[in-house]
Amino acid sequence: MTAPIEIIRRTGIVPVIAIERAQDAVPLADALLEGGLPVAEITFRTAAAADVIAAMHEKRPELCVGAGTILDQASLAAAIKAGAAYGLAPGFDAAIVAAAKAAGFPFAPGIMTPSDLTAAAAAGCRLVKFFPAGPAGGPGFLQAISAPFAHLGISVIPTGGVTEENLADWLKLKAVVAAGGTWVARTEDITAGNFAEITRRARSAVAAVAR
Ligand code: 3PG
Repeated sequence: MTAPIEIIRRTGIVPVIAIERAQDAVPLADALLEGGLPVAEITFRTAAAADVIAAMHEKRPELCVGAGTILDQASLAAAIKAGAAYGLAPGFDAAIVAAAKAAGFPFAPGIMTPSDLTAAAAAGCRLVKFFPAGPAGGPGFLQAISAPFAHLGISVIPTGGVTEENLADWLKLKAVVAAGGTWVARTEDITAGNFAEITRRARSAVAAVAR
């Protein structure tokens, strides 16, 4: 089985998703797959998150489904139980990182400063989420703060303010394996059943990475 990080690296884009209803899980998975994106981050910002991950994991195993917004141990446990392939969080919590490690669950905590990166590196993390990427300072800022950690081989997924227009600027950075954002699969499109628009946005993002 290919490791989640390899699938993420190959894809270059992680759609960050807040989905309200479990019944939309499979149509959403199909829309992403049809658009060429075999990756999703289902965030624990909605009550449906665990059910959505479980449905995608069971019915569309070809989609590499991650769990986002893991803010506490309960969400971590629910994500693992639902069959998520990996987890992410907007911030760094040593206890959550340790619990994920103990469970053998690939987990990327959020970082925004050199101190965050120091804590993540010390905890053994080799994949982190840079959040909120745009407001924090953009690609130049990430390049500067990640330079002292480059020899450790830490990979970064920037999210927050990433768009199709600035995607290439992020992917240029050596440390960046993929960039993520909500623009591909917007909650309003999912709720309205506008899956064709999600496929269109996914295709367009894939084409932007290939440019
Ligand atoms: C995340 O959790 O990664 C962000 O909320 C995504 O931010 P965006 O809406 O700016 O893409």
